[in-house]
Amino acid sequence: MSARPRHVPAATAPKSAEPHIRRRRDLMSLAEPGSVVIVPGAHEVLRNGDSHFAFRQDSDFLYLTGFDEPDAVLVLVPGREAGEQLLFCRESDPDRERWDGPRLGLDAARERLAVDDCFPIDDLDEILPGLMEGRERIYHAVGRNPAFDRQVIEWRNELRNQKRNVRAPEEFIGLDHLLHELRLIKSPDELRSMRRAARISADAHARAMQACRPGLSEAELTAELLHEFARNGCPPSYLPIVASGANALILHYVKNDQPLPDDGLVLIDAGCEVDGYAADISRTFPVSGRFTPAQRAIHDLVRAAQLQAIDQARPGRAFDDIHDAACRVLTEGLIDLGLLTGSLDANLEQQAYRRFYMHKTGHWIGLDVHDVGDYRIDGQSRQLEKNMVTTVEPALYIGFDDDIPEEFRGIGVRIEDDIRVTDDDPENLTGSVPADAAAIETLMASSNRADGRGGGR
Ligand code: GLY
Ligand code: MN
Ligand code: MN
Repeated sequence: MSARPRHVPAATAPKSAEPHIRRRRDLMSLAEPGSVVIVPGAHEVLRNGDSHFAFRQDSDFLYLTGFDEPDAVLVLVPGREAGEQLLFCRESDPDRERWDGPRLGLDAARERLAVDDCFPIDDLDEILPGLMEGRERIYHAVGRNPAFDRQVIEWRNELRNQKRNVRAPEEFIGLDHLLHELRLIKSPDELRSMRRAARISADAHARAMQACRPGLSEAELTAELLHEFARNGCPPSYLPIVASGANALILHYVKNDQPLPDDGLVLIDAGCEVDGYAADISRTFPVSGRFTPAQRAIHDLVRAAQLQAIDQARPGRAFDDIHDAACRVLTEGLIDLGLLTGSLDANLEQQAYRRFYMHKTGHWIGLDVHDVGDYRIDGQSRQLEKNMVTTVEPALYIGFDDDIPEEFRGIGVRIEDDIRVTDDDPENLTGSVPADAAAIETLMASSNRADGRGGGR
């Protein structure tokens, strides 16, 4: 019996199990005959002393179950008559639940997650070897966690030791390829979560732009973002980057503790998670609310590169076409601004832009910010398909070298949106926050930043 009143829904199960049932079926239909599939969930991780990091479920496990509790394992045994879909999880425990919050417990887990059977996680070692009996191969995330790899082998060996004349699996197959190809193409329910994450993240960026004024610090803008995420019940999907002035040249700047320079830019890269699905947005805007001509020139160039790159996100195009389009526009613009010399072709051939643009233009996004799925197939950049979602995030990071015109030194600009491939024009999930310089200035002017009280509130 749980200490929880019956009418309070457990927050650790999805509203509907339907999508997860479908995903488990799809995965089982892709597995070779005679398989057993083992997918462990995440454990709580100590931060220091006896304090934990915020719990984050394993993305593969979340995709297949929607279950957001630590210490659970999903086992799929296709064709097993006594039940194919088995979950091991924590039992109800009123004493522990008083300290740590409600657990779904075995009966509710079976029902709400629509699995065939549920067992206590403490019985895993006892039960799992028997589930391998008569099976030929085991699918799991081979190589991701050496301790779990060893554990899988021990379960298999245990079966051999218990019953010498039964068939025990001989083959260990990486699960990633099958499962991650499924995760790469987003279904309507996944896109619903992604659109919500995108909208809340876009609102957070707009809020930071409106709150921004000289005299604030990066930390205060970070607080605006986190407040907007939290009031919508969403954790950040990664550590926010709030990088003002030349801090924007540090690609993974996360200290976010410096005062904003009055006449500088601030680059924000931040997003939140909904149902585990990430948004990932970057915008760059002037602390004062008005771009200087040099800031505007660089910002306009990055935006032009982004628009060309987004336009490549269509079925049948290669993933690399997105990056190539961005690099071409950036190179043309850098030549026009005098930051590169020589012909367009020679500069592209030498990848001269890499002095100012040293990362790729995008990555898959989904349950992981840098989501799973191959980028190349047989050595070739893979073709885009409907309902793949990728970020498109060109940037320029101009250093302080002597040969760079003074007005451009120390400017860092990145503009990043989350783009869905459709049969028609690309869908920008995160497009509701302004990305054009003029629209950013208009939004910033619409707050009451100039009245001396600042902050838009
Ligand atoms: N926020 C991480 C990235 O842009 O890839
Ligand atoms: Mn990104
Ligand atoms: Mn980002």
